[in-house]
Amino acid sequence: MGSLVLLFIGFCLILFLLRVQRKKNFPPGPYVFPIFGNLLQLNLTNPVPDLQKLSGQYGKIFSFYIGSRPVVVLNGVQVIKEALLKKSVEFAGRPQDLLVSHLTENKGVILADYGPSWREHRRFSLMTLRNFGLGKQSMEERILGETQHISAYLDRSAGKSMDPQHLFHKATSNIICAIIFGSRYEYENEFFLAMINKMQENAKLTNGPWAMLYDSLPVLRYLPLPFQRIFQNYHSVVEHVSGIVTQHNVTQVAGEMRDLIDCYQKEMEKQGDSNSSFDKSQMIGLLMDLLFAGTDTTSNTLRFAFLYLMTHPHVQERCQKEIDQVLGEKPQASFEDRHRMPYTQAMIHEAQRVANTVPLSVFHTTTKDTQLMGYDIPKGTLIIPNLSSVLNEESQWKFPHDFNPSNFLNDEGEFVKPEAFMPFSLGPRMCLGEGLARMELFLILVTLLRRFHFFWPEDGGVPDYTPVFGVTQAPKPYRLGFRLRGRQGV
Ligand code: HEM
Ligand SMILES: *[C@@H]1O[C@H](CO)[C@@H](O)[C@H](O)[C@H]1NC(C)=O
Ligand SMILES: *[C@@H]1O[C@H](CO)[C@@H](O)[C@H](O)[C@H]1NC(C)=O
Ligand SMILES: *[C@@H]1O[C@H](CO)[C@@H](O)[C@H](O)[C@H]1NC(C)=O
Ligand SMILES: *[C@@H]1O[C@H](CO)[C@@H](O)[C@H](O)[C@H]1NC(C)=O
Repeated sequence: MGSLVLLFIGFCLILFLLRVQRKKNFPPGPYVFPIFGNLLQLNLTNPVPDLQKLSGQYGKIFSFYIGSRPVVVLNGVQVIKEALLKKSVEFAGRPQDLLVSHLTENKGVILADYGPSWREHRRFSLMTLRNFGLGKQSMEERILGETQHISAYLDRSAGKSMDPQHLFHKATSNIICAIIFGSRYEYENEFFLAMINKMQENAKLTNGPWAMLYDSLPVLRYLPLPFQRIFQNYHSVVEHVSGIVTQHNVTQVAGEMRDLIDCYQKEMEKQGDSNSSFDKSQMIGLLMDLLFAGTDTTSNTLRFAFLYLMTHPHVQERCQKEIDQVLGEKPQASFEDRHRMPYTQAMIHEAQRVANTVPLSVFHTTTKDTQLMGYDIPKGTLIIPNLSSVLNEESQWKFPHDFNPSNFLNDEGEFVKPEAFMPFSLGPRMCLGEGLARMELFLILVTLLRRFHFFWPEDGGVPDYTPVFGVTQAPKPYRLGFRLRGRQGV
């Protein structure tokens, strides 16, 4: 009996020694348990409802613990702007001790910590995308080329219905491939399908409970648990991308810049022996980042857009009227045409708002001790900018809870962009594919709306707008009904 009591006291003592306590003047939050933090209070399959309760309880800024790691959640325009714009450098770090960071080893851009390598690669990527003609011909040509393939694919099934998930995914992936590898894949190409499958599986696994456990309890990391599969998938795609890079060396023609790989090789030569961060492993990290960041995001946004267009026929018709009027006999849309299509522009932005594709942005960390809304936040704290909270914020939108393009139109019917429109986030870490993504969304939506009428199929059940939780949020699978629209379009 005595030894039991001793054991109990010992156990309590250990818990006491391991306890995690909020620092003084740290944002408020729920009670923190030793070792697990708030893990046991969250549903690991879908933590959204539990976090929702916390944000309801604690408001615009609160904290919780993943294991022993403190996390601060930012809600609303005011707080997010203060952090990501006003104190941009202090909030521009990335966590370096999560599953996803171990995957990319601080290479590339998305998960690279704030520092010279991140800065050089970000600048290189932005410049390369711009020189390919963001706003100029060639980027547009690449997107329009893929759009023709989507059109042709849909033509074959016009009058029927299909789940558009795979089609949009392959198309947006192809656009990135055209930019970084200089070539696209046929939709049935086996290698292409395998690569997409691996990336999709990883997207699912990194959102799942195993990844959360990996992040919370480091002792589990070396065990043969399902998260090992994430590493296998990642490395098998890396191997392939690496092969493409090697091949490029053989096929390269001096002075001809076919794609981002060619530009990167040139940059490596230019930097020579200087102390630059450009090398082959960084290049592969960057290629993986662009492939990953540019695919799900854009394709899930398209899926949301069509879900709402099917179920809001008056919005669809009004876009089609505007598109027909502006394009007239022109064979193809161009990105310039957007200035004469305020309603269609408003519809696309509204689709992005409700799609809320990256709801919690990508996690940031603080790069030094700092303050926010009067609270002290130490260096290295994980920061979650809750972009959903802004895209739905009641004080910021005329119709926060509807799908209504009027959210982006003034009384004169002109297109306006409220400051709370931040699906690409803000500040130095803001999405570097914004220009590309906006061009893709415009050209694909306009081309398809011009050619097809979209409708909710009779066997489609009841529309369900509830998103599926994830780093990139998707709609539930649905069937897209479509038929050709008379003479318009090509
Ligand atoms: C509708 C489509 C897209 C949405 C909604 C979106 C959204 C975002 C968001 C919210 C972030 C995190 C920003 C932050 O940390 O504060 C991000 C980062 C990033 N995105 Fe996108 N994105 C989209 C398309 C693309 C495309 C097409 C590319 C490819 C060129 C891309 C490349 C990146 C990269 C490289 C980063 C990391 C930037 C950095 O850490 O410095 N994104 N994106
Ligand atoms: C956790 O969330 C999943 C998915 O939403 C749900 O199916 C499950 O019942 C939840 N588990 C608990 C314990 O609430
Ligand atoms: C983010 O904001 C949305 C909308 O206000 C809310 O429902 C959700 O619970 C918030 N998430 C977190 C983690 O606070
Ligand atoms: C490509 O060729 C250059 C020299 O022409 C060489 O330095 C470099 O290592 C090669 N890269 C690859 C990936 O083979
Ligand atoms: C070279 O790079 C390393 C690491 O990136 C850095 O620590 C060092 O200061 C650099 N040296 C010079 C001379 O720039």
